[in-house]
Amino acid sequence: MDRRTFIQELKLPVMATCAICLGSCSKDDITTPGGGNTGGNNTGGNTTNSFKVDLTKELQAIGSFIFNDKIIVVRLAAGSVPSSFVALQRACTHQGTDVNWNASKNEFVCPNHGARFNTSGQNIGGQSTSALPVYAISISGTTLSVG
Ligand code: FES
Repeated sequence: MDRRTFIQELKLPVMATCAICLGSCSKDDITTPGGGNTGGNNTGGNTTNSFKVDLTKELQAIGSFIFNDKIIVVRLAAGSVPSSFVALQRACTHQGTDVNWNASKNEFVCPNHGARFNTSGQNIGGQSTSALPVYAISISGTTLSVG
């Protein structure tokens, strides 16, 4: 079999496989952070300023966090009430680098120039910049919704 024939015969199955894979994959997947924090998949879109978290699977430990492309959510206290959580813009207000959650210091830290933010989003050290926007949280049953 020559190369052209091989590619022509291979094209259809590969395209079908890609279509199936693309259909099953989505940007809703959340990268699981290291360091013993919980992570997983959210159940909402991550291309808007909103998403949903299944509290039976995620954010069960105090200090755990989860994020999508735009928002980072941290559990600050026990209980499944909105005040037990905080949701902030993930992009640093200085130059847009994604901030990380530091549970031991109870603050968000930007790895780029060191800006630090408290759980209200206020800049508390490092690079001086404006506050991280805070998103509204609501909880219905075991589903936490942001935005
Ligand atoms: S981008 Fe975050 S401190 Fe500069």
